[in-house]
Amino acid sequence: MHDFQYRGDELFCEDVAVRKIADAVGTPFYLYSRHTLESHFQAFDSAFGKMDHIICFSAKANSNLAVLRVFTRLGGGVDVVSGGEIYRAMQAGAKPEKIVYSGVGKRPDEIEFALSQPILMFNIESSQELVLIDQIAGSLGTKAPVSLRVNPDVDPKTHPYISTGLKKNKFGINIKKSVDDYILANTLPNTRVIGVSCHIGSQLTEVGPFVEAVQRIKDLVARLRAEGIQIRYIDLGGGLGITYNQEEPPHPREYAEALIKELPGIDCTLILEPGRVIVGNAGILVTKVLYTKEGGEKNFVIVDAAMNDLIRPSLYGSYQRIQPIHKKDRVEIMVDVVGPICESGDFLAKDRKLPKAESGELLAVMSAGAYGFTMSSNYNSRPRVPEVLVDKDRFYVVRRREEYEDLIHGESIPEPLK
Ligand code: LLP
Repeated sequence: MHDFQYRGDELFCEDVAVRKIADAVGTPFYLYSRHTLESHFQAFDSAFGKMDHIICFSAKANSNLAVLRVFTRLGGGVDVVSGGEIYRAMQAGAKPEKIVYSGVGKRPDEIEFALSQPILMFNIESSQELVLIDQIAGSLGTKAPVSLRVNPDVDPKTHPYISTGLKKNKFGINIKKSVDDYILANTLPNTRVIGVSCHIGSQLTEVGPFVEAVQRIKDLVARLRAEGIQIRYIDLGGGLGITYNQEEPPHPREYAEALIKELPGIDCTLILEPGRVIVGNAGILVTKVLYTKEGGEKNFVIVDAAMNDLIRPSLYGSYQRIQPIHKKDRVEIMVDVVGPICESGDFLAKDRKLPKAESGELLAVMSAGAYGFTMSSNYNSRPRVPEVLVDKDRFYVVRRREEYEDLIHGESIPEPLK
């Protein structure tokens, strides 16, 4: 459930008409509902209530400060994958002891930054990274808390670009090989082994692959404990899917129950890194129809948002529902909804039956709260769009629209070219 609902013919976000926000901030813009963010977080959090756990929201899905703040106020931690995300998490008020840091290519300066906070743990993805983190921790006179991110070789049955837990994927350490790395980690002077982690993919719509992964993790924990290695945290990553179109993913409750059932008496704190399932349906992208072109091979609805604002349809061929902000009786026609960018890959929907759009009207691209703004760019020198948060009957611009000056911020023309 989410808080983007029609009242009569008008789409509202909580108690604010979306049109009113468009009049104030212009289009396109991202719009988030605080109530949806909170209720999704709480539903997920309470699903794991039976076990000691930390919900570390995956910042890559939506890293706006205000959004992160919603979760840190509810006691959430943050899953980060870069120095920049650590910085954002801290600015949003995250407790460093609830930050977990994953990523296959952590740079030395990022590792130093993470050690200076100090965060809950590094999810280490290679033997070389392990040795480097140990060295850097030594040079800073500290100890690095670590888990190894293992690759359990489970098929998440999702889009190949967002599946991460297969042997052929670049992520994690082969689960069988990981025992050697754990033994190594346990002997390193500046490393404190505290956990095991994994993340098998994103937009999973069945619990089966998660259960398979957790079974393999459980076996590994037993094996490590037999070696005398202390494991206090099990991080199961994120990945639970949402409904974009017809998908019927498990409810967080079912997901949590299936995982918890596999871990009786495990005596660990569970860490979860959900992203999409919390924010995906808590945000929309509002765009205006610029022109319509009909009567040729195809009908086009040309809108003012483009692939630089929301790249998911172009990159993954993903489906985002599109609906008018103002409903009225009209025929439906088959259209491509496209943006102003100079490539044919720039579309928000293909061959979609939609109510015949009119120039000047507003459309909502639904389920755009996850991997929407965070994946946006300035391609075609398009200023990035604002982000707006609704809280009951008020709205707040939580990131302003970029201006032309922002586009060249930090650039310069060198002396010889002047
Ligand atoms: N933890 C780790 C280590 C991850 O790599 C990811 C996502 C998550 C947690 C959060 O996964 P979620 O709960 O959101 O599924 N841009 C793609 C999704 C990429 C996901 C990358 N990793 C998309 O728009 O579908």
